[in-house]
Amino acid sequence: MDNPKIRYSQAFKQVAKTANSSLPLNKALNSIAKSMAKAMKAAGCTIMLLNSKREHLDIMAAYGLSDLYLRKGALNAHKSLPEILEGKAVAIADVSQDNQAQYPEAAEMEKISSILGVPLLQKGEVIGGIRIYTRESRHFSQVDKDFLSTVANIIAIILEKNELHQGLSATHEETVTKRRKLTEPPELPYSSLRPSSFGHPSEEEFARLLDFYRIEWLYEPRSFPLSWQDDKVTEMFTPDFYLPELDLYIELTTLKQSLITEKNRKLRHVKELYPEVNIKLLNKKDYLRLLAKYGYGPLGETKVEGISRVLLSQTQIQRRIRALAKRISRDYLGQQLILVGILKGVVCFMSDLMQHISLPLTVDFMAISYYGSNSEAAVKITKDLDTSIAGLDVLMVEDIVDTGMTLNYVLNHLLAHNPSSLQVCTLLDKRARRIIDVPLDYIGFEVPDEFVVGYGLDYHGEYRNLPFIGALNPELIEEENR
Ligand code: IMP
Ligand code: MG
Repeated sequence: MDNPKIRYSQAFKQVAKTANSSLPLNKALNSIAKSMAKAMKAAGCTIMLLNSKREHLDIMAAYGLSDLYLRKGALNAHKSLPEILEGKAVAIADVSQDNQAQYPEAAEMEKISSILGVPLLQKGEVIGGIRIYTRESRHFSQVDKDFLSTVANIIAIILEKNELHQGLSATHEETVTKRRKLTEPPELPYSSLRPSSFGHPSEEEFARLLDFYRIEWLYEPRSFPLSWQDDKVTEMFTPDFYLPELDLYIELTTLKQSLITEKNRKLRHVKELYPEVNIKLLNKKDYLRLLAKYGYGPLGETKVEGISRVLLSQTQIQRRIRALAKRISRDYLGQQLILVGILKGVVCFMSDLMQHISLPLTVDFMAISYYGSNSEAAVKITKDLDTSIAGLDVLMVEDIVDTGMTLNYVLNHLLAHNPSSLQVCTLLDKRARRIIDVPLDYIGFEVPDEFVVGYGLDYHGEYRNLPFIGALNPELIEEENR
């Protein structure tokens, strides 16, 4: 049987042992963060200290969270779980429903549902905090809070011991700065990490490729110390890129074998010292293959020829769909929801959207003939609904609303069948081309007046299987109209 008290007492042993070890401060704290996350069966843990002005919290140690989450922005001590400043434990069961989290969107991306925070107290004064993060929504018990508070006391002692060790001179801030210089990336917003120049043309080309596919990247955002002499770092490794969406560091290699051997050695060393960090060494062929794995690039299985640029990446689309589904789940609580889609463009969107709606629902599809698709003089329903929608709450799900004519026709058809309510959810809104002003209740993205394909949308039946949405090369369309 799983007994948290046993898990906690084992963790205490581990933490006390670490506290009395000769590990350097950062390693000791990282090890404790890990022990706590494991003991609490949590996704992650952070240990933070207040800066000397008591305005911000600096992360001293962390376990289990992506770099992107850890670097989401400066943590304002008065906005992020502010009651910790008053010396209280704070438990948040659902981050998305609570205004005590400063970065709820970052938490959603990291799939964090609950947070438990306790203050770090030194001689009765709050000097920082410890936080535990869980993926599932959790109601923390008093036993959980007591456990974390006890570990907080041990950490306070470690910090004090460390300061004494440094000759009573270092303030918390100096300790933090020292540790940051050693291992942390600079505290800069992502955009400013865009370099004005690259170390090598291949890096610039790789950055362009990532831009083309709308994959977020950071250039050399972090150095990993590899060897120390006394307290000084004597060897470091700085990977060329970090891709936050994939939580992956990338080091590009030139073709010189001597350099590759040296890099491989360093890389092995990084993997030993920082086992939680994902790093890949790539030559040009490798990185094309990596992109292919995610459905992109010249080696991808999918057809990307003819696409001038990517408008919405797979990650952007999925992130937005989760947010839409969350709103729909709230709005339709207790109602008789039926999702209605028009084939075939809506297949990808419908499939992903319905999997994220946390309500009982049914689905139905219609098909209609489009202008120009055959010789019909008027739009016609080629496949009607299978079931009656009378008295049901219909949510019409659309891939894209362009002129609005299709949707207008379909809405009128549905209204004639007496639904209890009728609303529209469209992934894309090409507003610039609207002729009939149909009401849209849920909109994924507004897109410019260009022909878009992918994620269900086609051009002459092709491109539907792309996991992203791209703009079709206009020359392709012009050629055809000539
Ligand atoms: P509307 O009647 O002009 O609003 O357009 C309706 C249908 O045209 C959509 O449901 C799509 O199937 C198709 N469509 C409109 N714009 C695009 C596009 O940019 N790419 C692919 N299909 C489109
Ligand atoms: Mg459609």
